[in-house]
Order: sequence, then C-alpha cells, then structure tokens
Amino acid sequence: MQKPESIVVLTGAGISAESGIETFRSEDGLWANHPVEEVATPEGFARNPQLVYQFYNQRREQLLSKEINPNAAHSALAKFEHDFDGSFLLVTQNIDNLHERAGSQNVLHMHGELLKMRCLNSRMVFDIRESFDFDSHCQCCRSPGNLRPHVVWFGEMPFHMNQINIALEACDVFVAIGTSGNVYPASGFYQIAKLRKAHTVEFNLEQTGSTFDTHIYGKATETVPQYFKSLLD
Ligand code: APR
Repeated sequence: MQKPESIVVLTGAGISAESGIETFRSEDGLWANHPVEEVATPEGFARNPQLVYQFYNQRREQLLSKEINPNAAHSALAKFEHDFDGSFLLVTQNIDNLHERAGSQNVLHMHGELLKMRCLNSRMVFDIRESFDFDSHCQCCRSPGNLRPHVVWFGEMPFHMNQINIALEACDVFVAIGTSGNVYPASGFYQIAKLRKAHTVEFNLEQTGSTFDTHIYGKATETVPQYFKSLLD
C-alpha cells in the first residue's frame, strides 16, 4: 500500500481499557452496572438529575485519580500526529482526556468531555474537575439548577459531525480502535470512508461483525504502536 496522505482515526472505550477505565459493553462494563436510560439520556436526567450528576462525578473522580494514565496506544497516536506529514484527524467517542494527556493536539470529542459542563440557559461550556450537581451555580447565570455534563446522551446529536464527514470523504485510510461498532453514527464512519476509496482498518480484541478491509486483533497497547510506526517507515 502506498504511503497514505490523509488519515482519520476513530477511537472508542477499548483504547482506554488498559489505562484502567472500564468499557461500556463488557460483562462488568459501565452499562452492566448503570442502566443507560437512567444515566445517559435526557429523559433520565429530567427524571432523576442527582443520579446522573453522581454517575458522571464518580467517573470524573476516577479519571483524575493517579492510577489512570494514558497508555502506549494513546502515545502512539500522539507521536504519529506529530511526525506524520499528511493530514491527520483523531475523532474519539471517549469522554476521557487521555488522548490530550498523551500529547494529541487536535482531538474531536464527538460524545463530549467528562471534564466539561454546560449551562442549559446560556449553553456556555466550562471546564470542571470537581463534582457538581443541581445546587451548583453556573458562572454565567449565577444561579443553581442550570448545569449538566457536557456529554452527548442517547438521542442527542454528536458534536463535530460536519467536520468529521468532510474528513471521512477525503481520507485514504480510516482506522477504528477499540470500538464495538454498536452506536451510530460512529459505527457507520468506515462505510463512508470505504465509499470514497479509503482503506479501512479495525483494531479490536475480537471480531465486531464490521466489514473493514483489515482486522488487527490484539491489545491496543501492542497492535497500535506497531502499526503507526510502520506507516512512518
Ligand atoms: N484493545 C483493543 N480493543 C479493546 C480492548 C483493548 N485492550 N479492550 C476492549 N476492547 C474493545 C472491545 O472488544 C469492544 O469492542 O473495545 C470495544 C469497546 O466497546 P464498547 O464498550 O461498546 O465502547 P464503545 O464502542 O466506545 O461505545 C461507543 O457507546 O455507550 C455509548 O457513548 C458511549 O462512546 C460510547 C459509545
């Protein structure tokens, strides 16, 4: 395969698994222990906001603990972005900041970010590293009851879709790392890239049933550094 000129990478929870953050759909994953409709839908938030604040406060606290650090797969992507002379776009479904902590400069968080919150009134977005809840005051309205996690819930529109679709249609290599391909629109990205001539590569522990051109099985910390190093050689 000749040297690629334009690469789009999509990551999912599997790239952060070896950093100690549980994925969503494994046996003891996040959705096994927290009903999605209660903690990851607008209806769940309207029904019981405290439960939702608590769910994200717990995940934020875990993310900021010293045990959770970027792994070799995150670092390999950051190094590639720095060394590659073509166009490179990293899109993540993850709401953790491990790509940024590994040195990735230009990360599109299509499902939002755990370390950001949004005011329902002003729609302003603020960085947040502590817990917050219904009684927290936003800096814009200076009143309680307006803040929610800046995270995309089921039934809501992911962020950056326009920019992502443009990149998908222009890329010659599309790579998906550590995603089960269960959630649309991310699960359909490789098909858009494929329609436009791109070579598609899937990194996972196991088969996902997606029809990528190439499947590379194994742990992301082993398979991802090897592959991206070979692209630079
Ligand atoms: N290396 C490579 N792949 C891995 C590893 C690993 N070390 N560990 C797990 N995986 C794979 C699993 O085999 C699985 O296919 O990562 C995938 C994780 O799948 P999910 O738990 O479904 O996570 P994801 O695909 O990111 O979910 C997408 O769904 O619930 C929503 O908004 C949430 O962003 C999330 C979206």
